[in-house]
Amino acid sequence: MLELRDVYFTPDGIQVLNGVNLQIDQGEIFVIMGASGAGKSTILRLINGLIRPDAGEIFVDGVLINNLTEKEMARIRRKVGMVFQSAALFDSLTVAENVGFAWRNEKLPRPELEKRVKETLEVVGLSNVEERMPAELSGGMKKRVGLARAIAMQPEALLYDEPTAGLDPMTSNTILKLIKDLNTRLNVTSVVVTHDLPGAFAIADRVALLQKGKIIFVGTVEELKNSSEQSIQDFILGNTNQEMAVKIG
Ligand SMILES: Nc1ncnc2c1ncn2[C@@H]1O[C@H](COP(=O)(O)OP(=O)(O)OP(=O)(O)O)[C@@H](O)[C@H]1O
Ligand SMILES: [Mg+2]
Repeated sequence: MLELRDVYFTPDGIQVLNGVNLQIDQGEIFVIMGASGAGKSTILRLINGLIRPDAGEIFVDGVLINNLTEKEMARIRRKVGMVFQSAALFDSLTVAENVGFAWRNEKLPRPELEKRVKETLEVVGLSNVEERMPAELSGGMKKRVGLARAIAMQPEALLYDEPTAGLDPMTSNTILKLIKDLNTRLNVTSVVVTHDLPGAFAIADRVALLQKGKIIFVGTVEELKNSSEQSIQDFILGNTNQEMAVKIG
């Protein structure tokens, strides 16, 4: 469904991605982990066609997207929805207008539009928030609205950039469950970038570990846990220790 072949991203000579190879299968939940600055968000932006690689090939649903025109790229972006870290809602639009953005050119009758918006909000567990402005929502609600807006496009794949960052553990769990649930219900391919190791372990079909612009591991959660590679154990332990430190305060 999604493939990166020997992809380099080197803006102004800065080596952000150094030969990334990834194959993400239709319908799976694929989690990308790695330290801050490793290049995780860059991979999502490349898959979504927001930026272009300096070398290598990127395929979406069998189509090589490197050299597509902006218009062709817009079609790809409809297939691949992005849920941004900051939710990236349009602040001057209501929740309903944000969610209905995907249908703005369809000239739908108002009741039909309202019905679709309501149904899409229900999918992410929200009701009676249509007329609110983004500023009137909590962080967790904003993420859900961002997700609803992405789902409205009926994408074949959904890319999530740190969907649980900045949320309390309960809300994080709800969002993770939602990702899993949507993956099953809509049969979308899901790529999730996260720092949340237990969360990733709970939902991932496969995990990739990115270090300084290179993939150092791809496999199942079991394979990751059982890896005898020192750098991988360090990553798992480092994460666990960090969490401990946070919990201890
Ligand atoms: N267009 C660009 N020009 C220059 N440097 C860039 C560009 N895009 C990304 N970078 C750099 O590449 C590195 C990786 O960025 P990226 O946002 O992909 O990291 P990340 O793994 O998502 O990190 P985080 O966990 O903090 O979100 C960073 O050091 C960033 O500053
Ligand atoms: Mg990032």
